[in-house]
Amino acid sequence: MSRRIMVAGNWKMNGSNESIASLLAGIKAGMDAADKTTVVVCPPMIYIHKVQELTAGTAISVGAQNLSVETSGAFTGEMSSAMLMDNGCTYVIVGHSERRALYHESDMLVAQKYGVARAGGLIPILCIGETLEEREAGITEQVVGRQLDAVIAMEGVKALADGVIAYEPVWAIGTGKTASPQQAQDVHAFIRSRIAEIDAGVAEKVQILYGGSVKGSNAVELFANEDIDGGLIGGASLDAEDFLAICTAAN
Ligand code: 13P
Repeated sequence: MSRRIMVAGNWKMNGSNESIASLLAGIKAGMDAADKTTVVVCPPMIYIHKVQELTAGTAISVGAQNLSVETSGAFTGEMSSAMLMDNGCTYVIVGHSERRALYHESDMLVAQKYGVARAGGLIPILCIGETLEEREAGITEQVVGRQLDAVIAMEGVKALADGVIAYEPVWAIGTGKTASPQQAQDVHAFIRSRIAEIDAGVAEKVQILYGGSVKGSNAVELFANEDIDGGLIGGASLDAEDFLAICTAAN
């Protein structure tokens, strides 16, 4: 298996000019220990340009947390894939559970965003995952499969090779309750096998990250699993030391 490990920080709606400058200074200072890991930070939209400037010449890549499916025009408050590219983004998160739940993003809209991101030259990070209720009802695979299938149906399975998948069980996000390494590995293996049923080459290539209360203390155990290719980090990505501990674990 030759998939590269990735650690991406999703800063969500956190930070200020001051805190971001100091967070990035801290991360940059420790990047040598993460030379085999793809490190990505996803700031709020308004700080993307600044973060791009502050990370220029480093191995840190920049991602956005969302994008519009439209290309330009009368769409107040929206941001296009071209604008993200124009400001130094390489990645964009699509379908985060907070956007699905709080902003009513459907599987279909998320699939559209995936396609628009890819067509615009960005690498989409597709988030999928079940709620606690769904897990307890025993329909985790059904839910995750449905979210994945929406993208495959709209964009074709080959499109997955141009992106990254993040399995984020909703019940593990911001709760301090991490999926056990086995629980995570089981769902990752399910995702990969579902893709392999259609295209084994794509399944072998696609990076599948785990997200949900990842910390320096549990990262090694999680990343040691065959189908876990890194992490999408929320809370712990806001502290340079915590984030670097995860990047080092990935390395
Ligand atoms: P936490 O790491 O804070 O649980 O958040 C995970 C997440 O939602 C990353 O996108």
